[in-house]
Amino acid sequence: MSKRSKLCIIFALSCLASFPLRGEDGYNLWLRYTPVSDKQLLEAYRNSIGGWMIENSSPTADAARRELRMGLDAMLGHPVEEVKTLKYNGIIIAGTFDSPTLSRLDLKSQTKDIGAEGYIIRTMRYADRNITVIAGETERGMLYGVFHFLRLLQTRQPIGQLSIENAPKTRVRILNHWDNLDRTIERGYAGFSLWDWHKLPEYIDPRYYDYARANASVGINGTVLTNVNANALILTPAYLKKVAALADVFRPYGIRVYLTARFSAPIEIGQLKTADPLDPQVQEWWKQKVREIYQYIPDFGGFTVKANSEGQPGPQNYKRNHAEGANMLADALKPFNGIVMWRAFVYDNKVPVDRTKQAYDEFKPLDGKFRSNVMVQVKNGPLDFQPREPFHPLFGAMPSTPLMMEFQITQEYLGQATHLVYLAPLFKEVLDADTYSKGNGSSVGKVLDGSLEEHQLSGMAGVANIGNDRNWCGHPIAQSNWYAFGRLAWDHTLSPEQIAAEWIRMTFNSNPEVVNTITNVMMASREITVKYMTPLGLHHIMGYNHHYGPAPWIKDKPRADWTSVYYHRADEQGLGFNRSSSGSNALEQYQPQIRKIYEEGETCPEEFLLWFHHVSWDEKVRSGRTLWDELCHQYDEGADSVKWMQEQWNSLEGKIDDDRFLHVKTFLHIQQQEAVWWRNACLLYFQTFSKRPIPKDLEKPDQALEHYQAQEFRFAPGIRPRW
Ligand code: GCU
Repeated sequence: MSKRSKLCIIFALSCLASFPLRGEDGYNLWLRYTPVSDKQLLEAYRNSIGGWMIENSSPTADAARRELRMGLDAMLGHPVEEVKTLKYNGIIIAGTFDSPTLSRLDLKSQTKDIGAEGYIIRTMRYADRNITVIAGETERGMLYGVFHFLRLLQTRQPIGQLSIENAPKTRVRILNHWDNLDRTIERGYAGFSLWDWHKLPEYIDPRYYDYARANASVGINGTVLTNVNANALILTPAYLKKVAALADVFRPYGIRVYLTARFSAPIEIGQLKTADPLDPQVQEWWKQKVREIYQYIPDFGGFTVKANSEGQPGPQNYKRNHAEGANMLADALKPFNGIVMWRAFVYDNKVPVDRTKQAYDEFKPLDGKFRSNVMVQVKNGPLDFQPREPFHPLFGAMPSTPLMMEFQITQEYLGQATHLVYLAPLFKEVLDADTYSKGNGSSVGKVLDGSLEEHQLSGMAGVANIGNDRNWCGHPIAQSNWYAFGRLAWDHTLSPEQIAAEWIRMTFNSNPEVVNTITNVMMASREITVKYMTPLGLHHIMGYNHHYGPAPWIKDKPRADWTSVYYHRADEQGLGFNRSSSGSNALEQYQPQIRKIYEEGETCPEEFLLWFHHVSWDEKVRSGRTLWDELCHQYDEGADSVKWMQEQWNSLEGKIDDDRFLHVKTFLHIQQQEAVWWRNACLLYFQTFSKRPIPKDLEKPDQALEHYQAQEFRFAPGIRPRW
């Protein structure tokens, strides 16, 4: 063997040693760009795509260029030529309506108003050649168009005759990271925070680029980097430099950076004696602080604020209301076009009313009192991200204020790291719910996209499920919830099935059996989870504080509404929280059309029965069974259905990559055991009130109630740190 070949072998071996061959570890999310293996389709793609060009030059155009090159080369299996002119058939040309070649096509006059972020993808003729045009008014629109075009290839769609016009329905499509400066994440189940504050601004983790790509690919255009339980230090120069470094990475991808503003920051980092929003010194402090932020981050988006909620400071500390607090920040941000996203997640221990009524009671009277650059950010339901809640009654109740949606992507109450729960059906159920605020068809989706009440500002926020786990979201399937949030924030009329199917094709493969099987499992997963955790409208019976696992027995805590017994109200007579007019009358916050149906147990949709009614154990429900028997059946069906999920998943062996197959398989095993745990613990506990037997044909718990009550999870992940 020659000296040279020996050296080559040594080189190859050392490469292998330092770069072990990686399987599918999920890092590439839905941007895998796998080669097209179907020969006919590959041929068709190669015929339609001879080369590509982008005339614009800017960091955003460069991002589009990199993506197009990476995607096309990988999927078509050869380097696709980047060209400078439309010199032959089948060129993909991406740009803005006014870029040199595209301006000759007069696209603007042939396109309806697609706004600053919309795009067209069109097959056209130009100088006797077939071309594919991807264009927007702005480069951001173009970039979204490029991602859409790549998605067509990734999902193996025909691209011969394209005529697509697309624009987002909401303006602010934003992730809320509940990330702390020490890199822990409140309610985070996928490792530590991506933001490596200690090494920023010098060290830019390449992962920040991939984060930006993933978000841009689904149209997410903003990110709140810090926890709503905020730390004022983020607003000091040392941290603003770090924030600026992240903003520089995200900017080309159309992503603006936002921060959480701690209301008491003027005291904590400004040495003022007060944070009273009507105090001129405080107002001046915020104006100066905002000016300083914009020096670091010229396109800073604005603030998300949690005030007077769960111990956070706020305007009420000074006897001011939420509007006065929000407006002070809004005035400081206004000159820079920044916005305030003021959260409506508030509840006060001093007010002895049903907690689900409190946000409405506090915010509705403030309608019309907020500045034009304030949005009130409302959780999907009136309690707190439960497996199922009715829509929040504030939607439709504040017509003069733009309301943003807040969904939780991280699965705080839905099995956390290990349960496969596809959340798009949950999101969609709320988006499609009719508020009746302006008659039939006044859906929550239309409230938040601004179309119902004619607001310019609109938005949807998702509490991120992203951490530094290699696969970003912990559970391989949890990536679909990030994806689905982005897609629905862009267009809330999309269907969960469609979103699931496109995600599966991009994330796994396009084998119809794979797509159908995983779609079926994903689509059923949320309903199954509701059944084994909180069937028939039960809610908030999870473990204390960490919210992991069942704990309907929780009582005697510092606040009544931090206990489970407060919510389920089990007694010898029956189960459920009476929120009808004979109870807390939370129903009064909804329109008459809803009140009418939900007021009576007989007409109330069964999935919300125990949310709105205290029902006696022997009352017959829709199935003809008594409430107790139905409860037993639903818990049992939920737990049993996880076995069905396992069977379905097992049928995929060899049809998807082994790594992710095994990963999900193992998690499904955990989910199955935990579903049984939920069923057993809840039924045994509720049985102490119902005093009725578990129906004969159902599986019986194999442990005593005390066994479940003795479980402790002191170090469950995602618990709120106490500073
Ligand atoms: C829930 C969650 C908290 C979070 C809060 C919020 O209560 O458990 O961790 O801070 O929501 O949305 O502000």
